[in-house]
Amino acid sequence: MTEVPEYLFERSRQRRIDLGLLDDDGSGGAPAASGASEGAALASSGPSSADVIAAAKADAKLEIQTESGIEPVWVSAARSRTRIPMWALPVMFFLPLWAFVYVKLTEPPPEPVTAITEGAATYAARCASCHGGAGAGSEGGGVGRPLYNGEVLLTFPKLGTDMLYWLEVGSEGIGIGNAYGATDRPGGAHISGETGANMPGFGGPLSEYKIYSVARYIREVLSEEQISDEEIAARDAEWEDLGGGKDLGGGGHSGGH
Ligand code: HEC
Repeated sequence: MTEVPEYLFERSRQRRIDLGLLDDDGSGGAPAASGASEGAALASSGPSSADVIAAAKADAKLEIQTESGIEPVWVSAARSRTRIPMWALPVMFFLPLWAFVYVKLTEPPPEPVTAITEGAATYAARCASCHGGAGAGSEGGGVGRPLYNGEVLLTFPKLGTDMLYWLEVGSEGIGIGNAYGATDRPGGAHISGETGANMPGFGGPLSEYKIYSVARYIREVLSEEQISDEEIAARDAEWEDLGGGKDLGGGGHSGGH
């Protein structure tokens, strides 16, 4: 039988006293006179050796807990680490900005402004009150001349200075009583003031490219002018040369009288 060291017996004895398994007889702490004989006596009298071993194990655990004052490196590393890393600050700061940009980029882009869409908008705002939404004019209860069914093309066979000038200066600019447009128009040339109502000039309130695009609208849409793709391309280029397509609507000269 291996000899159990003396201090272990003493410890386990104390432990049993603590647990109430043994009465303190006051012999604690004092080393026993002869280790071997006392060990034998203890073994025979009270607690089994299993008890002793269990108590010793419990002690050993207590020792580990109390004696390990030095923390493991990973514990101290974790303690000294900054909780939120520094690089996370700018990331968190710019996150809402990124979210905003992301949402903006995934939105469908605004419809590009073309001469025709711009002309339609100008027509609705500036011309429809006298010429009617579809261009019926006096035939539909308006005061202006009809611009639909090819009517405007009879007066102005070409999209040129003649027509643009009329739109810029109106009836008074041409001079009441003066002919405008095609002199060989079927039914005779149109005479300024002939209808008893005057057409205002738009050279002030509308920029050149807006006059150009509304002229295209009444020709190509209301009067369904038949033109080649080359002619369309040439007109688009002309409109852009005048400054069209640069602002997304609302800008330019469009602000009223
Ligand atoms: C205040 C009413 C009024 C407004 C607004 C108006 N017009 Fe007129 N328009 C007339 C009248 C009236 C005539 C006939 C002029 C005359 O008899 O002197 C006319 C004639 C015309 C003609 C000549 C048609 C022809 O066959 O003789 C064109 C083209 C035209 N308008 C285009 C426009 C466009 C484009 C706009 C908008 C930018 C517009 N008008 C705004 C009243 C108006």
